[in-house]
Amino acid sequence: AKHLLGIEHLGPDEITTLLDLADQYVDLNRRDVKHTDTLAGLTQINMFFENSTRTQASFEIAGKRLGADVMNMAMQASSVKKGETLIDTALTLNAMHPDLLVVRHPHSGAVDLLAQKVNCAVLNAGDGRHEHPTQALLDALTIRRAKGRLHRLSVAICGDIAHSRVARSNIMLLGKMENRIRLIGPPTLMPSGIAEFGVEVFEDMREGLRDVDVVMMLRLQKERMDGGFIPSEREYYHRYGLDPEKLSHAKPDAIVMHPGPMNRGVEIDGVLADDINRSVIQEQVEMGVAVRMAAMELLVRTRRAQPREVMV
Ligand code: CP
Repeated sequence: AKHLLGIEHLGPDEITTLLDLADQYVDLNRRDVKHTDTLAGLTQINMFFENSTRTQASFEIAGKRLGADVMNMAMQASSVKKGETLIDTALTLNAMHPDLLVVRHPHSGAVDLLAQKVNCAVLNAGDGRHEHPTQALLDALTIRRAKGRLHRLSVAICGDIAHSRVARSNIMLLGKMENRIRLIGPPTLMPSGIAEFGVEVFEDMREGLRDVDVVMMLRLQKERMDGGFIPSEREYYHRYGLDPEKLSHAKPDAIVMHPGPMNRGVEIDGVLADDINRSVIQEQVEMGVAVRMAAMELLVRTRRAQPREVMV
C-alpha cells in the first residue's frame, strides 16, 4: 500500500507481516543503542490537528530511531489559524518534499482526502470517529505477545463504542484475524447497525465479560458527543467501570487493555489499571513505538519499489 489510512484496506497477511517486523523493533527498542539508518535522509512531518500524547510522541520517537529527519508541526501556531484550509496546508508542506506525513484530524475522512493531494506516504494517526489504524495494530501486537496468538480469542470492547475510532479499527482488525468480538455498553453509546460487523452486543457488563480472553476498555469521548447524551460519571462507573469484581467474570488470565488517555474512576478502577498481573496498558504504549517503526518502514519499502511520481 502507498499509505496507511485504515485497517479496512489491510489483509490478514499484511497485518501479520507488519506485526512480525514490529516484534523485531521491540527487541531493538529494549537495547541501549536504539538507532538505525533505515529512514536516513528521509523527512517525516507530524501534523496533529487534535491533541495527542501517545501517538504523537511515539511517531516522533519511531521516526528518530529509524534515522529520519522528524518535524512536528505546531498546528495551533500554524497558518490554519489564519484560515488556511487542510488541503492548502498539505499542498504547502508537500512542496517541501516530505517522505512521510503523519496526520491526526478531528474530521472522519480528512486524512484520506489529504492523501489524495500529496506525493508522499500518509499515515492516519486518527481521523474523527473513523479509524486509528496504528492503535489497532499496537493492540494486536500486545494481544499476540500476551496470548501467544491473534486468532480464536474472545475479545470484549467496552464503553463508548459509538464515538471510538479505536473500537472501529479494532473491530475490523480482530475480525479479519478471526477472533470473536463482544461489544459492551449502554445502547446510547452503541453505533446503529453494528451487528452487521459480526459482533455480539451486550448491555450487561458481567454477562458480556463472561469467559473473555481480552478486556479492552474505552474512554467516554465527550469531545465527540456534541450535545448528545452524556452519562453521569458515577452512574457510568457503577455499571460499566472495570473493577476486580466485574473482571472476575472474564477468564482468570484475561488481560486488561486501554488505549489511553484513561479516566481513572470513570471507565476503569485506578488500582486495576496499575496491576501488572492483569493490565497491559504500559505494554500497549511500548508496542506503539515498534508498530509505528514497522509501518513507516514498510511504506517506505513500497515507495522505493515504485517509480516516484512528481505532482506539480
Ligand atoms: N491512544 C491514543 O491515541 O492516545 P493519544 O490521543 O494520547 O495519542
